[in-house]
Amino acid sequence: MRKFLGTISLLLLVIFSFGQSTKTTIIKAGKLIDVESGTVLLNQMILVRNDSIIQVASKINIPKEATIIDLSKYTVLPGLIDCHTHITGQPGGDYYADIFRKTPVDVAVTAHIYAKKTLEAGFTSVRDLGSAGLVDIALRNAINNGDIPGPNIYAATVFIGSTGSHGDLNGFSPYLEFNAPKGLSGVANGVEGVRQQVRYNVKNGADVIKFGASAGVLSEEESVGAPQYTQEEMDAIVSEAKMWGRKTAAHAHGAEAIKMAVKAGVASVEHGSLLDAEGIQLMKAKGTYLVSDVYDDEYILSEYSKLGFPDKIINKEKMVGKLQRENFQKAVEAGVKIAFGTDAGVYPHGWNGKQFKWMTRFGLTPMAAIQSATINAADLIGIKEKTGSIKPGKKADIIAVVTNPIDDITILEQVQFVMKNGIVYKNN
Ligand code: ARG
Repeated sequence: MRKFLGTISLLLLVIFSFGQSTKTTIIKAGKLIDVESGTVLLNQMILVRNDSIIQVASKINIPKEATIIDLSKYTVLPGLIDCHTHITGQPGGDYYADIFRKTPVDVAVTAHIYAKKTLEAGFTSVRDLGSAGLVDIALRNAINNGDIPGPNIYAATVFIGSTGSHGDLNGFSPYLEFNAPKGLSGVANGVEGVRQQVRYNVKNGADVIKFGASAGVLSEEESVGAPQYTQEEMDAIVSEAKMWGRKTAAHAHGAEAIKMAVKAGVASVEHGSLLDAEGIQLMKAKGTYLVSDVYDDEYILSEYSKLGFPDKIINKEKMVGKLQRENFQKAVEAGVKIAFGTDAGVYPHGWNGKQFKWMTRFGLTPMAAIQSATINAADLIGIKEKTGSIKPGKKADIIAVVTNPIDDITILEQVQFVMKNGIVYKNN
């Protein structure tokens, strides 16, 4: 019997150690951006074991089993994080056809394409702020299972909005109605209604709660800035989300709606186009992040008429685009916390890095722009322990570019090396 048990335990040990096989990698970095200290270090080595960073130093004794990745001619930095994407889709070329002929099933079939493009552009994590039919959740789970390549997704499920809001369908015959399954339209009203919608979203897998504090640009309701929820409704959304351990992001263009959302306690204001001096002070006092999609104006004004978007939408963009950038700069100068978020999906996925140029043109230093997309973004999402810098104990989310982005930030539009959770997805 004893002999039998001995054999069994030996067998288990062999199976166990086989399953536990470790993968060791040494990355040699010519330059390494330390986003925590805001400095560029020279000639560093990074020891990666399985999915984690073990050690970062100028000299590491290379373990004999290690694979060496030589990036000594490159600048290495943490995997980038986009705090505002709609990764499941992008305009297909016909505004009305997209609205009336596409179902979440169409979206689900192609979503993996955009996930791959986003990852290959150097974005190892995204906060995805609104998707129909729970496609974001399916995509997130498939990526986490290792079924398809893509970034880590922190998903909102459906956008929560009032009747007639940016999150509703406006401007069409009231006889036209989409019958989404219960809880999946995202349209909710009143304190009880919005609390219930937050519960649906959490039940359906949301990591974060997104709601419309103000009107929007790419929708047919009138004003861009007007509030679309009362203070009581916004307070209810934020407190309900908090009860379930979720942070809240508010879509808010208008000055008043921004202040209402900040008072309600949102973690971030999205867009922030018409942010005023009082709003800036309030955001500073509350430590609210500004996530401003300062590249989009460029793409919308050059492409959206061709995509069939009606003039009333294009005219709304003309009203807010310039002001958004000016107010972004004022917020930066006042010291409001900035996290990188692009609204990817408004423009083609994979172009996320184009926003860096606009952020530096409107007030951020290149280092601060990189910090907005790494350490700050990780802080906003609540994943700072896991990612956002190249430090021992964090996941090995690491990218590289051929020249130093501190000298020319646009190099971040051409990321050459991508590792996520210790797995190499791109190595040109
Ligand atoms: N999703 C946003 C909206 O429709 C896009 C705004 C884009 N325009 C801009 N200037 N950032 O409101």
